[in-house]
Amino acid sequence: MAKFERIVILTGAGISAESGIDTFRDAGGLWERHRVEDVATPEGFARNPDLVLGFYDARRAALESVEPNAAHRALARLEAEFTGDLLLVTQNVDNLHERGGSKDVLHMHGELSSALCTSCEMRSPLDVPLLDRPKCPVCQAPTLRPDVVWFGEMPYRMERIYEALGTCDLFVSIGTSGAVYPAAGFVQEALMNGARTLELNLEPSEGSRFFTESRHGRAGEIVPQWVEEVLEG
Ligand code: APR
Repeated sequence: MAKFERIVILTGAGISAESGIDTFRDAGGLWERHRVEDVATPEGFARNPDLVLGFYDARRAALESVEPNAAHRALARLEAEFTGDLLLVTQNVDNLHERGGSKDVLHMHGELSSALCTSCEMRSPLDVPLLDRPKCPVCQAPTLRPDVVWFGEMPYRMERIYEALGTCDLFVSIGTSGAVYPAAGFVQEALMNGARTLELNLEPSEGSRFFTESRHGRAGEIVPQWVEEVLEG
């Protein structure tokens, strides 16, 4: 693999699949069991807050019984040993990148371990069920919601992401179907700035045609292999 100086990585649910966390659109995935409009939209939350709070409480509780896998650990090794610039952007709301050793993770869709107060709009660490209607630690109102970006809401830190996509020399997409924008459009942003683009996924994603190179296989195998190549330069 050629020498790169500035790498942007985007991960999706596929990087956590081998840890036992369901993806969204694979067979048996999350969106086969729950309607997006019921549990992942502001309208669904307004219509039935208990259903939504319970859905995210269950997903957060499930984190206690899963572990990061070799792909998460490989990206943490890359962060520790790569001498150039590295930005790790994840669409995932799980904490497996951090538990796998990554220190600087940009959660563009938010995090299960964070709560957002709908009264004062402050964020706070979440370690109790939202269904218990805990008080916001800042304004004391019992109005906490998941700090997760729902459909129709703006993903976090987009300016920082586009700035990195405009200057990177390699964009790597790992474990994402390329079905949801704006993340699905990042590969084209990178291409427009002349970056090489690499897809590491179980199967071709919806955006495969935009990648200069695609490798298909399980993240737990192909991500450590790729990291080894990059670090061996
Ligand atoms: N290794 C590598 N890739 C895998 C593996 C694996 N073990 N298992 C599944 N995949 C791939 C699938 O082939 C698929 O392309 O991971 C991708 C998962 O796609 P989705 O389920 O659509 O998840 P994602 O792309 O992260 O969804 C994006 O959609 O619903 C919203 O906010 C949600 O962040 C999510 C966004």
